[in-house]
Amino acid sequence: MTIIRVPKAWELPEVRATSANAYFNRRRLLKTMANFSLGAGIASVLGCKGSSAPNNTLVSANPALTATLELPSIEPFTLNPTFQKVDRPITDEVLAGQYNNYYEFGGSKSIWRASQALPTDNWQVEVTGLVKNPRTYDLEDLLKKFPLEERVYRMRCVEAWSMVLPWVGFPMKLLMAEVEPTDKAKFVSFTSYYDAKISLAPVESFGQKVPWPYTEGLHLKEMANELAFFAVGIYGEILPKQHGAPIRAVLPWKYGFKGAKSIVKIDFVEQQPATFWNTLAPSEYGFVDNVNPKKPHPRWSQKKERFIGTGSEVSWEERPTLPYNGYEEYVASIYK
Ligand code: MTE
Repeated sequence: MTIIRVPKAWELPEVRATSANAYFNRRRLLKTMANFSLGAGIASVLGCKGSSAPNNTLVSANPALTATLELPSIEPFTLNPTFQKVDRPITDEVLAGQYNNYYEFGGSKSIWRASQALPTDNWQVEVTGLVKNPRTYDLEDLLKKFPLEERVYRMRCVEAWSMVLPWVGFPMKLLMAEVEPTDKAKFVSFTSYYDAKISLAPVESFGQKVPWPYTEGLHLKEMANELAFFAVGIYGEILPKQHGAPIRAVLPWKYGFKGAKSIVKIDFVEQQPATFWNTLAPSEYGFVDNVNPKKPHPRWSQKKERFIGTGSEVSWEERPTLPYNGYEEYVASIYK
């Protein structure tokens, strides 16, 4: 199905200041990737929910794929100097844009095409619950209200693959300051967009009804941490749908499943909220679930991670897993 996408006001060039701060030369990258075949050897990686994924073959750039990534710039944004470099290079954009987990659009990693059905026009985010200033934000309001910055973060999935991604967005603590959680609020719950009509997701898994919509949650002290981030862009441009357009959570010290995509609701609550994976398979997915090489997972060893796109086509380079995914200095004190 071809989706004709009409850009919203917030995506249009007129509302962007041109700036040279996007150091990342995206066009050059896309061109390089078009000439670089990643081969067809990487198959059948198991998905978070454990079903075998029939089509995880990585492809070299093709016009349909690159079209999903050639999106309007999200400038202006600043480069946050503290988070510009990690100990490995940024993952290629075309690779990151075709190797995704977004179960609403299918059980394989190749959801980039199906996820284009996500309707992002007139997006609103409802902020509700135990806050002094509950409010429904149009996406444009959020973009105007909070200064955008780029942060290069490690990203680690519980399936043991990893990437490095240059997100553009704003710290969650800025939104908290705006809505002012009350003293009673102890947790936050994020709800992703869900429409059964366009979803390709299973309705049953792990022997039970799947608890759609996708939800995730945090302790408020985690949300208030410097690292906790709402991303509205990546690689200097608005978020592609496969990455969770138009706004998603990014929590680099936690496993990737904690970062809810395409958020429509942010609810401040007193009790620990039910979350998607923890409801489906509590023995595999915790509520907190920080990256931890010492805590075994029943299906994927957490001792090492595989950095996607490196090494050989069939066997990505392995590295020891870092506690808190390398962000111990920022977050360890939360858990003392
Ligand atoms: N959010 C929603 N709504 N649906 C999902 O299936 N998958 C999670 C997380 N957020 C998921 C989601 C998992 S398991 C991972 S690893 C990351 O998104 C993947 O993000 P990426 O595809 O942008 O790399």
